[in-house]
Amino acid sequence: MNVFVPGGAGYIGSHTCVELIQAGHQVIIADDLSNSSADVPQRIKTITGTAPIFYQVDVCNKEKVREIFKAHHIDAVIHFAGYKAVGESCRIPAKYYRNNIDSALTVLEVMEEFGCKKFVFSSSATVYGPMNPVPYNEEMPAQVATNPYGWTKLMIEQILRDYAAAHPDFSAILLRYFNPIGAHSSGLLGDDPNGIPNNLMPYVARVAAGILPQLTVYGGDYDTPDGTCLRDYLHVVDLAKGHLKAIDYAMNHTGAEAINLGTGNGVSVLELIHAFQNATGVKVPYVIGARRDGDLAKCWANAEKAKKLLGWSADMTIEEMCRDTWNFTQKVSQK
Ligand code: UFG
Repeated sequence: MNVFVPGGAGYIGSHTCVELIQAGHQVIIADDLSNSSADVPQRIKTITGTAPIFYQVDVCNKEKVREIFKAHHIDAVIHFAGYKAVGESCRIPAKYYRNNIDSALTVLEVMEEFGCKKFVFSSSATVYGPMNPVPYNEEMPAQVATNPYGWTKLMIEQILRDYAAAHPDFSAILLRYFNPIGAHSSGLLGDDPNGIPNNLMPYVARVAAGILPQLTVYGGDYDTPDGTCLRDYLHVVDLAKGHLKAIDYAMNHTGAEAINLGTGNGVSVLELIHAFQNATGVKVPYVIGARRDGDLAKCWANAEKAKKLLGWSADMTIEEMCRDTWNFTQKVSQK
């Protein structure tokens, strides 16, 4: 199949492109490189032996997206393009709404022009909001977000539901990711945020590498077994494989379907730090600090629907996630 991947040079997108190519698909990436590296297409080629077709394009630009659809017969789209930093989205909300919604709508409109009917969307567990109890399942109401980034995910899910309702031969698979961490085992692809990381795993890795002095654990007084927050961490390669299953599923599916991609297990911040130390033999100095605004104590998936519909489960261990993150961080910091 020819799969169009807006945002395919990013963290999850690049790992997904590797899995798509290894499964025999032709991959066409569009990425403006605003939060990714120009080396990524070459790195995908080094891993797979096949270069993805790459366009340095902002997919909010409809004419450019049309040119791509004219040049290639696109069978399915996996849409990753979007800004993703929760804190930043609170500071510059208009930019988040404009970019995330515009890019999704532009791709959707061009798909319609060219008769492409399979859309896999990069959604997030953030759509479950603060009111639902864990573990989250797809039947729960997902109507309230706590920040503009989360609202863009909810709004795009709604756009795709409405679109699928109006076009009975259209399939939208709304993949709700939990906390992807880890890196490709080659060390060539991984999460390499600009500046000081917001997310736990890249922060831990930079402390371990001596780039940052210590980690602050945000809150040690939550109602959890060790007082720190629980999250559903999954290996990014497992997550990427979930996308492969999702496009296969979309081929014989119509309508809009939300599917969690998580392990179904909650792991605390302290457990993750200790797992990292055990897997790598490197110490991670930390202090317990104040809670971070907006953090939920507990967030993990009910992962049954993905198993049932897609035949997918996340199987890699926390130790593998830590080992692969560390391997990647060492390679990046040697550059
Ligand atoms: N944490 C720390 N110290 C840090 C960074 C994080 O203690 O320096 C803690 C957080 O408080 C939280 C846990 O580590 O308890 C995980 O935090 P992340 O920032 O890595 O991830 P979040 O669960 O906050 O957010 C992630 C994604 C969002 C998504 C959200 C909900 O980054 O895109 O899950 O699905 F919206």
